[in-house]
Amino acid sequence: MTRVLRGPIYHFPSLASTNDLAKELGAAGAPEGLLVVAEGQTRGRGRLGRQWQSPPGLGLYVSLLLRPALAPLELPQITLTAAVAVVRALRRATGLTPGIKWPNDLYLDGKKVGGILTEMETAGDRIRYLVLGLGLNVNNPSLPPELAGIATSLALVAKRPCSRLAILQAWLEEFEGFYQRFLARQFPAILAEWKQYTVTLGQMVNVRQGQQLISGKALDVAEDGALLVQTPTGAVARVTSGEIDSTAGTRAVNAEIC
Ligand code: BTN
Repeated sequence: MTRVLRGPIYHFPSLASTNDLAKELGAAGAPEGLLVVAEGQTRGRGRLGRQWQSPPGLGLYVSLLLRPALAPLELPQITLTAAVAVVRALRRATGLTPGIKWPNDLYLDGKKVGGILTEMETAGDRIRYLVLGLGLNVNNPSLPPELAGIATSLALVAKRPCSRLAILQAWLEEFEGFYQRFLARQFPAILAEWKQYTVTLGQMVNVRQGQQLISGKALDVAEDGALLVQTPTGAVARVTSGEIDSTAGTRAVNAEIC
């Protein structure tokens, strides 16, 4: 039962993207706490312009509208907070504890099981609204061949079906608590918990910055959510967004050396 995030809840058999509808409703003035859920998505979107495969009835595809009085630069912290709430929720609802790959990919058995796409609209130097979009592979009996090597589902790992409703309920309850703490300026404690779950810190990672590939050790995550990577020269690069890869190639990333 949530107290602050109280809907309204829109549930559709199919949508292009729950994030798109939540953003549309946000632009039209919908209240904080609005939730859009779809059984399937025809144009589900992932980070960095990727598709999010959203087969009907199998995954959880949900977007939550928030209106925090924050600066846009604080957005990465909300996304890390949402990821911690997902780990807690999955532990509660399924008994599984995924690892978090920076910034907010959820991993089980070395494969991606879910992710978060955070999008915002700003007004001057404030966030007007933001949409937290959560996608989880829940009861997929298998993944398409092109994803099977890198992605999995909760049911495949748990070896039994998992309740999407129980997961959604647990995430909303957990996130509500974390969101209150976040707004009360308790992000350092939330980040400390994020660090307990991450599979990234201490790993050798590759980060692409424009044409340049930065390789090094993922040292830490700064208070603003940036990943700190120590390169072989000893310099520390601040990675503010994008994707790291601890094995092969990388995708677009924003980074600066400090
Ligand atoms: C990622 O790239 O890891 C983030 C994936 C986020 C997918 C979710 S599914 C619900 C919401 N609607 C979308 O179109 N995307 C997000």
